[in-house]
Amino acid sequence: MSTSSSTAAERNFKKDFLKIVFVVLGVLLICFSIFFINHNENNEYIIETIGHNGSAEEGNALFKINCVGCHGITARGLVGPDLHSITQRLNDKEIIKQVTGGLTPPMPSFEIDPVNMSNLLKYLHTLE
Ligand code: HEC
Repeated sequence: MSTSSSTAAERNFKKDFLKIVFVVLGVLLICFSIFFINHNENNEYIIETIGHNGSAEEGNALFKINCVGCHGITARGLVGPDLHSITQRLNDKEIIKQVTGGLTPPMPSFEIDPVNMSNLLKYLHTLE
């Protein structure tokens, strides 16, 4: 009697254990897919941005609207750092991530389409 009830408990435990393993695997799979999809979208965004030949003039206008509050009207730095020769320190991909990523508060993440991002990049390239 006691042995049969303990094996039943054991079987239940195994079932529960399997359930937990499946749930954990499921959650991991979902997390991984989300990460993969995000990563892929980022890459597509970067490839598209770099594919455009931006306009420094348009980029300058965008900079005046969105960035001068922190980086200064001549991009010499205010709350945020001086952005002159930034393109020698960071590559285009890194700059795109900096602008769209929101990874370094207080700098916000900007939702900017690839054409405008490419304009902004072109402008930053003019800051020697
Ligand atoms: C709310 C203030 C704020 C705004 C608005 C802002 N930035 Fe920034 N930015 C910062 C700060 C602060 C840093 C430094 C972050 C750090 O490295 O910790 C920074 C860093 C950067 C860097 C990297 C500099 C380096 O030396 O690594 C780039 C490039 C940059 N910003 C570009 C821009 C552009 C382009 C815009 C406009 C689209 C913009 N920022 C708008 C505050 C701001």
